[in-house]
Amino acid sequence: MIPDDMQLDTLAVHAGRADLAAQGVHAPPIDLSTTNPLPSLLAGGDAYEALATGGRPLADGGLVYQRLWNPTVARFEDALAALEHAEAAVAFASGMAAMTAAILAARADGRPGVVAVRPLYGGTDHLLDSGLLGTDTVFVEPSGVADAVGPGTGLIVIETPGNPTLELVDIAAVVAAAGEVPVVVDNTFATPVLQNPLDLGAAMSLHSATKYLGGHGDVIGGVIACAEPMAVRLRQVRAITGALMHPLSAYLLHRGLQTLPLRLRAQQESARIIAAHLADHPAVAAVHFPGLDPDPAGLLQRQQRGPGAMLAVRLAGGYDAAATAVERVRLFTHAVSLGGVDSLIQHPAALTHRPVAPEARPSADVLRLSIGLEAVEDLIADLDQALDART
Ligand SMILES: Cc1ncc(COP(=O)(O)O)c(C=O)c1O
Repeated sequence: MIPDDMQLDTLAVHAGRADLAAQGVHAPPIDLSTTNPLPSLLAGGDAYEALATGGRPLADGGLVYQRLWNPTVARFEDALAALEHAEAAVAFASGMAAMTAAILAARADGRPGVVAVRPLYGGTDHLLDSGLLGTDTVFVEPSGVADAVGPGTGLIVIETPGNPTLELVDIAAVVAAAGEVPVVVDNTFATPVLQNPLDLGAAMSLHSATKYLGGHGDVIGGVIACAEPMAVRLRQVRAITGALMHPLSAYLLHRGLQTLPLRLRAQQESARIIAAHLADHPAVAAVHFPGLDPDPAGLLQRQQRGPGAMLAVRLAGGYDAAATAVERVRLFTHAVSLGGVDSLIQHPAALTHRPVAPEARPSADVLRLSIGLEAVEDLIADLDQALDART
């Protein structure tokens, strides 16, 4: 048994694996069963009832059906919960499925109001702005949260650092302004290595697990760390809507967690160097990177253990320069997504943030970079040749 008070690096390697040795195995088994033999009609029925309403497996009832519970997924959830200092975690088919579940769980209380702080990932912004789930979202500045919260508010949504321009939002201040309303923090960019929103009072820490948690660009998933009562509600939504994570994805994500601290810290060191290099680059009008942008509230020091490995640049040559640069990169891949071992570059206004209302969309001169594990000199050389339109 690994005590929960161990260092993050130790938990990352061992969490969710405590029972493996007793089973005589070293790597987690992958349980692909879609259905499970029932011990008896009575016990099976009770287990079904417990799991379909968001509970955990009963001692003698079996697991019934993969949409309700899967041991491989549960291992990944336990591990992520340990890293997030949470009682529980609930995994979903994607980050958007996780956000949908958080919204539906709040909506089920009969409070359709959502208060959200921009910038958010374009898909999240779109989901909220469209009202597709029956919610009514008001977008505010962080300082406007308290005034925007009313009796019909069921959820506060923030993302910090925000996608794509890395703005930091004061989690503790938003939690204080939210009163009793649960706050969900999209922690995808920071990961539990750099930030633990639950320690600052947030009700949910949400991840697109597709990004740093998996880290190799080969699995889509989402996960929310939270207290057990919230986990019950989220598991119920997951069971009813079928937004479950596949066990093979959970296996890969659980394995990904083992190297997450190492990967993220190495990627962060390169990002620091690249951000400093680009800040002096003649083709670059501005660099957005936590620690480089003015941070009068000292948020980076207070709520994060480092700036992370994402950055955004505004190009002096505007949209044309951005369009040219993404076509000229050789080592960076021109592609959406982020957080993997290889570096990616993309144009948020045209891609990830395309569905955002024009007045809130990132400007056309912005490129977002996800810094990977390549040698930083090679990454800088690639950016220099891509940004220098004369060559
Ligand atoms: C910050 C953030 N949150 C959520 C999502 C959605 O996650 P997924 O693509 O896994 O559904 C993304 C995807 O890019 C993201 O960047």
